[in-house]
Amino acid sequence: MKYLTIALPKGRLAELTLELLEKSGIKCSQSEIKSRKLIIEDDDTMVRFFLAKPSDVPVYVEYGAADLGVVGKDTLMEEARDLYEVLNLGFGACRMVVAGPTELRDRLDEIPDKRVATKYPNIAREYFELVKKESIEVIKLNGSVELAPLVGLSEVIVDIVESGRTLKENNLVVLEEISDISARLVVNKVSMKMKSERIRNLIENVGKELENA
Ligand code: PRP
Repeated sequence: MKYLTIALPKGRLAELTLELLEKSGIKCSQSEIKSRKLIIEDDDTMVRFFLAKPSDVPVYVEYGAADLGVVGKDTLMEEARDLYEVLNLGFGACRMVVAGPTELRDRLDEIPDKRVATKYPNIAREYFELVKKESIEVIKLNGSVELAPLVGLSEVIVDIVESGRTLKENNLVVLEEISDISARLVVNKVSMKMKSERIRNLIENVGKELENA
């Protein structure tokens, strides 16, 4: 039997996913996960895991290097990869929002040709241009996006908010909500056909575990 390969995002989501998979009957050694090893194989269940940078997980799954993967909905929305999204795992919950200085509360629509700083250029463009029918200038950043309105790089940002602490500490507020975000289980389209029974069983078992949680 061939391995069923599961790509996990390095960090907290990986730990939560492994806990969930363990409860669903898939054995995995936490100590190995915490080591620097990138691929972990379990010859009893013929499942192997690898840890990738979170935003790269959909790439491994789309190309079939992994049969399944766990990835945040933010990355899925931004990348629009050709794969199946089969389960909402619930954890890693946060919100995708438009945020900015308090003065812009209820006044967002009054600013023409806004500059929007973000790690998510596609999500930002889609929200303003397709949903709000408004043209904007997107400024792509790679992190610490909250800095942009503070130093005059942009009027607003599109980013994820989890606890709200980063916004609060920088005197920024949520101006509009774009979408709820959480971790999703995704499947390669060919694997779904070729390893159908094992993958369907896994989805069913994980789904049951989520219902009982
Ligand atoms: C994320 C996000 C916000 C922050 C939100 O950044 O882009 O900056 O977390 O979390 P909070 O609402 O709990 O404060 P991350 O920590 O990934 O760092 P980065 O901005 O450098 O990408």
